Amino acid sequence: MTRHLLTIGDLDAPTLHALIADARACKADPASVHGRLTGRTVLMHFTKASTRTRVSVETAVARLGGHPIFTRGDELQLGRGEPIADTAKVISRMCDAIFIRTFAHADVEELAEHATIPVVNALTDAHHPLQALADLMTIEEHLGELQGRTIAWVGDGNNVFHSLAQAAALAGMHVRIAAPAGYDADPAVMAATALVAAAHGGSVTELRDPAAAVAGADVIVTDVFVSMGEEAQRDEKMAAFAGYQVDAALMAQAAPTAIFLHCLPAHRGEEVTAEVLDGPQSVVWDEAENRLHTTVAVLRHLLG
Ligand code: CP
Ligand code: NVA
Repeated sequence: MTRHLLTIGDLDAPTLHALIADARACKADPASVHGRLTGRTVLMHFTKASTRTRVSVETAVARLGGHPIFTRGDELQLGRGEPIADTAKVISRMCDAIFIRTFAHADVEELAEHATIPVVNALTDAHHPLQALADLMTIEEHLGELQGRTIAWVGDGNNVFHSLAQAAALAGMHVRIAAPAGYDADPAVMAATALVAAAHGGSVTELRDPAAAVAGADVIVTDVFVSMGEEAQRDEKMAAFAGYQVDAALMAQAAPTAIFLHCLPAHRGEEVTAEVLDGPQSVVWDEAENRLHTTVAVLRHLLG
């Protein structure tokens, strides 16, 4: 059976830890990975903008000696109505993996169902598993063992949160989220994540109050209030998220050693102040760099 990475749910705890360990080894010795994908091609098909994901995947494939092919939404016949299933079959005859960034998560599931090569979710409206791997790697680098640490998410119960919560649960962390009413995480994802957390010694707590979520926490995380594809909801979301900005006063309620994460791009003055994003507790540049190393590890895991 072809292995895919559509959500963190595709991984078990040993694989999660192995990916992070491999990513850390690749970061320490980048030359060690050269040549592993010689003669192989990886298609990246993105229907949304991207800086970190596009550049990290292209660089990871190049570092491994393979060839990345990047297409935007209207560049494949898929954008003119060729079925997802047909696209999956054709690409599978030529390439060695597909990374896809798009809107509907079901489209990525359909692609994976018909592909005979690994499909990697490079962000959908529901999940962003590659980001979660980099986030856990970054936490481990800065704080050591993940098990038992408390991670507090302040803001939208969105794609990035779903994946981070799933990964943190698998690592036995305590996950707290403070989101305004109407912007909770997907109840089905949260129910499953709570079971995974409990099985690994962690927990999941859903709150409304940012201060309650961050109290004594080891890791504070947020993301944009308006995700790609939600531009029409901007006014209502900005109103709903008033009071959910991560600022210095909120950070002061976390553990004194707490670190701040943000997948980026950030909007200083909206979900986070410049003081926090650019401050001493912020590890966002390490987090962004680690997108490269974790993607190298994912490629090695899926393509051998
Ligand atoms: N964090 C992240 O996925 O960034 P990009 O949208 O720039 O790829
Ligand atoms: N939640 C954001 C993440 C961007 C990397 C979005 O989906 O636009």
